[in-house]
Amino acid sequence: MKIGVLTGGGDCPGLNAIIRAVTRKALESKHTVIGIKSGWAGLIKQDYIRLTHDSVSGTLSKGGTILKTSRTNPYKEKNGEKTVIRGMKKIGIDALIAIGGDDTLSVALQLYKAGVKIIGVPKTIDNDISGTDFTTGFDTAVNIVTDAIDRIHTTAESHHRTVVVEVMGRHAGWIATMGGIAGGADCILIPEIPFSIDEVCTLIKKRHKRGRDYSIIVAAEGAKPIESKSLITASSKKDDFGHIMLGGIGQVLAKEIEERTGIETRVTVLGHIQRGGTPSAYDRILGTRLGIKAVELANSGKWGQMVAIQRNRIVSVPLKDAVGTQNTVDKELYEAAKLFFG
Ligand code: F6P
Repeated sequence: MKIGVLTGGGDCPGLNAIIRAVTRKALESKHTVIGIKSGWAGLIKQDYIRLTHDSVSGTLSKGGTILKTSRTNPYKEKNGEKTVIRGMKKIGIDALIAIGGDDTLSVALQLYKAGVKIIGVPKTIDNDISGTDFTTGFDTAVNIVTDAIDRIHTTAESHHRTVVVEVMGRHAGWIATMGGIAGGADCILIPEIPFSIDEVCTLIKKRHKRGRDYSIIVAAEGAKPIESKSLITASSKKDDFGHIMLGGIGQVLAKEIEERTGIETRVTVLGHIQRGGTPSAYDRILGTRLGIKAVELANSGKWGQMVAIQRNRIVSVPLKDAVGTQNTVDKELYEAAKLFFG
């Protein structure tokens, strides 16, 4: 078989581990492997490379994706579906392995319904894909956030300041919750639970009264104050999948906290630092296991599936069950985090 592999959507650490595992397992199974460049755009433009043992050698520890990525949505283009299928035929690809988040996997599902032999692999630092306990990239992001909070702690304490740490997490607050727990945040604000700025200020003032004259507030970019009608956005421009660029909640919150409490408050936006650089050991191992499983599914002709990790076992779930419904933060986990608020 000639198997195509692509990475779509936002990059994350661990993508190269998946590409490497897909390539190595596919070569072992006597397939030819084609790396499609820049996600779905590469199929539209027929931009690709042949992947060999050599081309994936030395990539395991590298961040980003050797195949590059894009947020191109073929279903936004005129005759996009036909163009993609024609692109596959021209390259001679029999089957596709699509590595991506909800957007990329929703395109994969539509193509599967149109008859394409396809398998999905979940990745995103946001960890918001259903059907899998974890997505590749999430663990590294949590480690980066934890390290950042540790560093922010010492400077906040020295200056008697409140620091708002804005992290990624559009619809789900996994990074904020896990990074916040690991970093000992004094309050964690997530998209799933609208929050009151007044309550955050009361919490900070109470800490001050107890002699804790510094505070760390971790806010996911999609966190929403109950006082505000809409999400805080960095730009009104939408991407191909209709998403508005989020960002700015940290700034808004820091200004309000300083005004309402009189305590000097700063903001640190971690941004794309959370997505860049070396993948953690966990993400390398998870990516490797998922990549191998994707080829095993292809070998047995189980199309329309997404590989996943559940209770530390690599399994597969139908793409239709994984896309469209977000995996949001566990109530029990957030309750555990709340014990340490204030
Ligand atoms: O990949 C998911 C994500 O990291 C979101 O958390 C964030 O909102 C978005 O990507 C940022 O996207 P971009 O790379 O286009 O700025």
